[in-house]
Amino acid sequence: MKFFDDALGWMNRLCTPRVSSLDALRSTVLVPNSKLRELSRRMASCIEDGLGKDTHARATVKCFQTYVQDMPTGLERGTYLALDLGGSNFRVLKGELGINKYFYMEQETYSCSQDLMTGSGEHLFDHIAECLKKFIDAQGLNDGAEGTPPAKSKSKNRSLPVGFTFSFPMSQRSVDSGVLTRWTKGFTCDGVVDNDVVELLRRSIAKHAGLSVRICAILNDTVGTLMACAWKDPKTKLGLIVGTGSNCCYVEKVDAIGLYVGDPDKEQMIINLEWGSFGDNGELEGFLTKYDQEVDANSVNPRQQLFEKMVSGMYLGEIFRLLLVDMAKANLIFDGRIPEALRRRRGITTDVISNVERDPPGSYGNARECLKKFGIEATDRDLEVIRNVAECVSKRSARMVAAGLVAILNRIDEPEITIGVDGSVYRHHPHYHNILVETINELLENKKKINVILSEDGSGRGAAVVAAAVCKSNR
Ligand code: BGC
Repeated sequence: MKFFDDALGWMNRLCTPRVSSLDALRSTVLVPNSKLRELSRRMASCIEDGLGKDTHARATVKCFQTYVQDMPTGLERGTYLALDLGGSNFRVLKGELGINKYFYMEQETYSCSQDLMTGSGEHLFDHIAECLKKFIDAQGLNDGAEGTPPAKSKSKNRSLPVGFTFSFPMSQRSVDSGVLTRWTKGFTCDGVVDNDVVELLRRSIAKHAGLSVRICAILNDTVGTLMACAWKDPKTKLGLIVGTGSNCCYVEKVDAIGLYVGDPDKEQMIINLEWGSFGDNGELEGFLTKYDQEVDANSVNPRQQLFEKMVSGMYLGEIFRLLLVDMAKANLIFDGRIPEALRRRRGITTDVISNVERDPPGSYGNARECLKKFGIEATDRDLEVIRNVAECVSKRSARMVAAGLVAILNRIDEPEITIGVDGSVYRHHPHYHNILVETINELLENKKKINVILSEDGSGRGAAVVAAAVCKSNR
């Protein structure tokens, strides 16, 4: 079967014609609104499956319950620790929530090396516990009862409350447990999939005598993003990340969640879609190009996270490189020569796309400087074509993400909805926001007011807000 699939993939690649003009490139990569509406319908049907009692197990878009059910009131107070693991950096933060939406944060960033990302799970969690210990020592936090309100701070339980932002797919049975269902974004640590991540972290923390913390919540970065934004704007119903990876969460009514077994008095819960895996069961047929197939085939997780691989920062640079190679082969750039950096897999990075598009039309200063760092010398004519290629890649991402969002927005019966967004692609690309907003408005079925706003540090602030909300309800 595998052989057959591989052969089919090969045939497919060989049969897809090489793109030999800019128009051909645009029509291969970009899709019209009619097709985006189809994408939106497919996403909507996958969400139904994810939420359905009998369909959840085989659903492509898992729609995990997060057990985050209380939206922030803005009255959350106290000091909380947050851990943030989800990419090539790992962070420990201390966040203080105060009156009048006061938020103060101190943080330390520790690199998460390739060895840690691909080594043993135990090693990874030991590293996290060590960083946490260092941070607590450096901050002198060992002897204070943080997080709890003044009256409670005299209680015997003086452990520090921690919110753990763990930005990978996990199936949750409570707000303080989560079983990793698969790694994404280049992580492959063994011994973690199918295990409760909080339990693994607790074991590593227990190796440090005197490290007294209480992990009271584990959350996805999209959930942190939504909560951080909702803390300021109660109309926030969606949290979106377009960074190294991509994902979205939203507030759903419990009646629509087939497997809901929680508190009957609660009306809603944040659902972590894990939409990166959309397409893994053929839902992206008609959208995937030979470039996407190549990126997928050369990844550490082939045939997984196909939507993520079309829209997120970990992969956009590589799609861009493959397109440029075809443009050079068609003699549209570099006089038909392929520069060294473009010959190597992942030879250029996603931030080049943002840099190339940052120049005002007709000028190429940024683009030229940025490509020079990769040893690529380009003429104005080359740079004009390169800009067009960059636009195709980023525009496709923003438009596909918009189509995904519309599938959710159509479910929510509110006249005005705010979407909190974070992630390097959204943050750094000069036009991503505008294309996203424009496309959402073009695709929406029933007109409503949609606000798309940058959510400041969802992974840190959001984790503190969730920890505060959970501590409050546990009191
Ligand atoms: C993960 C999600 C995460 C997203 C953004 C994806 O690879 O599966 O859990 O929210 O990246 O960080």
